[in-house]
Amino acid sequence: MILGLEGSPRKGGNSHNLLDTILNGARQAGRETRAIHLRDHKYDPCIGCEKCRRDKICTRLNDGMTLLYPHIQAARGLVLVSPVHNYNITAWMKAFIDRLYCFYDFEDTRPRAWSSRLANQGRKAVIAAIAEQENKRDMGFTLEAMRMPLEALGYEIVAELPVLRLFDRGIVKQHSDILERAARIGKELAESL
Ligand SMILES: Cc1cc2nc3c(=O)[nH]c(=O)nc-3n(C[C@H](O)[C@H](O)[C@H](O)COP(=O)(O)O)c2cc1C
Repeated sequence: MILGLEGSPRKGGNSHNLLDTILNGARQAGRETRAIHLRDHKYDPCIGCEKCRRDKICTRLNDGMTLLYPHIQAARGLVLVSPVHNYNITAWMKAFIDRLYCFYDFEDTRPRAWSSRLANQGRKAVIAAIAEQENKRDMGFTLEAMRMPLEALGYEIVAELPVLRLFDRGIVKQHSDILERAARIGKELAESL
């Protein structure tokens, strides 16, 4: 199973279309997929209560993430797509990633040594970011903001797709070259699992 999540506030926006296309590529390579549009889910950011140290999952907040955790654990393949908002991932994507904190185990040292309970299971991911501007610099930290936490959690990033110069809602549908690249990284992810 490949789980794909996008963090745009815009239904039918560029991230929505790009996620659909990546997952189509994965399905054509024989994988089952599930698409999640984070704007449709109600969840809070991590509040740092550390209750998950004991419970091994977030039990302090009972919200949309509670329903997503089983899908995250079950899917060995992950797709994250975010538009660039102020040089970074969107607030929806950031809150989602922060809520994955419950998958870490920490030691009592300072700073705390840590490991991820999602690691060493052959988990793989692809990430994509979409920006309006034409210079990769205007994408800021968006790819890093997805890559670094996913790698820390134990995912191998098999492909990254930075997309520039797209502003209008859904305009990506007019760019067959970008859609082809998106389908290709979906296929790459499927074949890597
Ligand atoms: C609040 C906000 C902040 C944005 N910040 C940036 C930015 O820093 N750099 C950039 O290139 N585009 C920026 N954009 C433009 C979006 O990344 C662009 O329109 C993208 O295509 C939106 O994708 P979506 O349709 O998936 O939401 C911003 C848009 C919004 C609404």
